[in-house]
Amino acid sequence: MNLLSAKNLSQTFEYELFHDVSLELDEKETIAIIGVSGSGKSTLLHILSTLLKADKGSVSLFGEDVSKLKKNKLVQIKRDMLGLVFQSHYLFKGFSGYENLEVAAMLSHQTVEESLLKKLGIDECIHQKVTELSGGQQQRISIARVLTKKPRIIFADEPTGNLDKKTASQVMELFFEYCQNNNAGMILVTHDEVLAHMCKKVYRLESKALLRIQ
Ligand SMILES: Nc1ncnc2c1ncn2[C@@H]1O[C@H](COP(=O)(O)OP(=O)(O)O)[C@@H](O)[C@H]1O
Ligand SMILES: [Mg+2]
Repeated sequence: MNLLSAKNLSQTFEYELFHDVSLELDEKETIAIIGVSGSGKSTLLHILSTLLKADKGSVSLFGEDVSKLKKNKLVQIKRDMLGLVFQSHYLFKGFSGYENLEVAAMLSHQTVEESLLKKLGIDECIHQKVTELSGGQQQRISIARVLTKKPRIIFADEPTGNLDKKTASQVMELFFEYCQNNNAGMILVTHDEVLAHMCKKVYRLESKALLRIQ
């Protein structure tokens, strides 16, 4: 089943970032988008995840054009179906890691899975205040929070930027396993070619176009 279909997207700020870009994401599929800094990767991810509306083109999620959805419906899709792992991960600072996960679990009628915490290596630090944790620990807690929601599409922008190589590839494996087991898909933006090539499809954003390289 198709999860996301983007057609003929173009976006200009000071200069044109990309032109006529199209992309499809199916269930159990993982896609990486690489490109040099400033090429527009984050902007494209914001458009695909409905945080930003493109100048031109359309994005459909689960078969529905998002520009034609009622606001309530779009809010519901965002809340229940989309998981955003972005650089600025907004964990509630006054809470512990676990309390952050509990909030996510409650809002989406899910439970916090102990096995997820173990796999991410955060089962021991999870009861500490967010502010006491390292950047890498906070990053893994925000990944746990997103997966606790059980989204159908994961949008991730440099999700392993604060992690060492070994932990980064463990986190990638967890994403892949999650997509397989939950009929989900992932679109990953990264400048790390090694991590990118772990995905099924790899695209490069270059010269305003999205070129498939794997
Ligand atoms: N909201 C915005 N308003 C104006 N310019 C923006 C905005 N968002 C991004 N840009 C510009 O678009 C370019 C690409 O940014 P970005 O998508 O973050 O690239 P990447 O993630 O590939 O490094 C940058 O020059 C950035 O300044
Ligand atoms: Mg970026």
